[in-house]
Amino acid sequence: MNNQHKEETGLDPTNWEEVRQLGYRMIDDMVAYLKTAGDRPVWSPIPDDVKDTYSEPLPQLPGNIGAIYEEFKQNIFPFSTGNTHPRFFAWVQGGGTSFGALADFMASVMNSNVAIGDHSALYIENQVLGWCKQMFNYPETASGILVSGASIANITALIVARNAASERIKLEGLAGVDSKLVAYCSAETHNCIAKAIEVIGIGSEQLRKIPVDGKYRIDIDALQLQIEQDTQDGFQPFCIVGNAGTVNTGAIDDLNALLHIAREKHVWFHVDGAFGSLAKLVPAYADQLQAIEEADSIAFDLHKWLYMPYEVGCVLFRNAAQHRAAFAAPANYLLAHERGIAGGPESFSNYGMELSRGFKALKVWMSFKENGLQKYSTMIAQNIAQAQYLGSLIEENCQLELLAPVTLNIVCYRYCRQGMSEQELDMLNKELLMRMQERGIAAPSFTLLHGRYTIRVAITNHRTRLSDMDIMVASSVEIGDEIFNERG
Ligand SMILES: Cc1ncc(COP(=O)(O)O)c(C=O)c1O
Repeated sequence: MNNQHKEETGLDPTNWEEVRQLGYRMIDDMVAYLKTAGDRPVWSPIPDDVKDTYSEPLPQLPGNIGAIYEEFKQNIFPFSTGNTHPRFFAWVQGGGTSFGALADFMASVMNSNVAIGDHSALYIENQVLGWCKQMFNYPETASGILVSGASIANITALIVARNAASERIKLEGLAGVDSKLVAYCSAETHNCIAKAIEVIGIGSEQLRKIPVDGKYRIDIDALQLQIEQDTQDGFQPFCIVGNAGTVNTGAIDDLNALLHIAREKHVWFHVDGAFGSLAKLVPAYADQLQAIEEADSIAFDLHKWLYMPYEVGCVLFRNAAQHRAAFAAPANYLLAHERGIAGGPESFSNYGMELSRGFKALKVWMSFKENGLQKYSTMIAQNIAQAQYLGSLIEENCQLELLAPVTLNIVCYRYCRQGMSEQELDMLNKELLMRMQERGIAAPSFTLLHGRYTIRVAITNHRTRLSDMDIMVASSVEIGDEIFNERG
């Protein structure tokens, strides 16, 4: 061995025993953390001195892994958003599971790039896509891909829908269509749809946000009128987006009616089912969500209402050829071989934008095996029952006002006292929400409904129990009274 060889170095540890011991400690910490998730405040503000550590400069020299882990435990670990806690109800965030976390750890150990090649991870992603198709009764010939979340799942679907509007778009871009393309969704649709429509070159003016009815569902008559008007005006309708669970209130659009209109007008029918589509697993919701089975595409998250750790979403397409046509691009260095590592299943890069892709499918595979579909159905039904219980407690309480019907897992309400103006109520409820979060009691989030500040509880949480709903009501009244009395 010459001197040059001796000077070579690597990143594997010189002391594997140290890694083993640290790994054991990490597992112990994980178990303690998740086992006692409900014993801590839901959320704690990050102290300024801790925030200061976040701007430390780029390390130039090696550090000790034990010391680095201690730093993590002190400055990072305690200051999560709180979505592992039973009373975390903000936005729509799942709580994750211990086995899911271990799966992610092993996926990192394998360090698979799930794009190309004859290796297990590609087969497992295909397997879990098959399971997802089964959940929504999609045909075996359908295609799909795992992505980071519903935002990317939705844009992936809209790209395919746009390209399906004209064969010329792939080559010529939007210059390839004679009329301006227009898409339709309700005014309650998540903003990722508007973002997608902008990013894929359609332009947000060509996204028609149709008004909703009293239950926050798309107004079907208004939609039909708008499509007729647009057609008369020379636009080309290309896509209807239906909601299976709106982000604000959990409303489910009349998906059957939307499917019918889409078929009649020969336009793409996409469902944003980020969380609500999973209620299809609950028999009481199967009919309302039946039309998903016929949709051209469906976007949903596994990190929301299937409680898997971040991040993993999915998009499915009824027509695999159209899905592939939108993303497949020839490259000499990606050619499939008959044998060897470049053999195996078709590259996922033909079905999405990413070429480098992590092994998200492993936590999905392990979690489905750990729990089975029936357990997920039970958990989702339990969350819906909790939302209904909270809704009934609010209705019974004269100091609280329900601001939207509880149709799924979202409860919108506010603290209310007679004689207060809308503006005063907005300010009081905002303050109530912030105090509830700062005291670590619970973490609902907020929205505006008809311009009114609304406390919003979205339950996609497998750690939540009915008693947490009692706490929500008691603390809302207590903090509301406290702020009311402070007014003098
Ligand atoms: C209805 C709906 N669609 C899309 C999204 C975006 O999902 P993600 O945050 O996984 O990108 C959300 C997020 O809450 C949602 O509720």
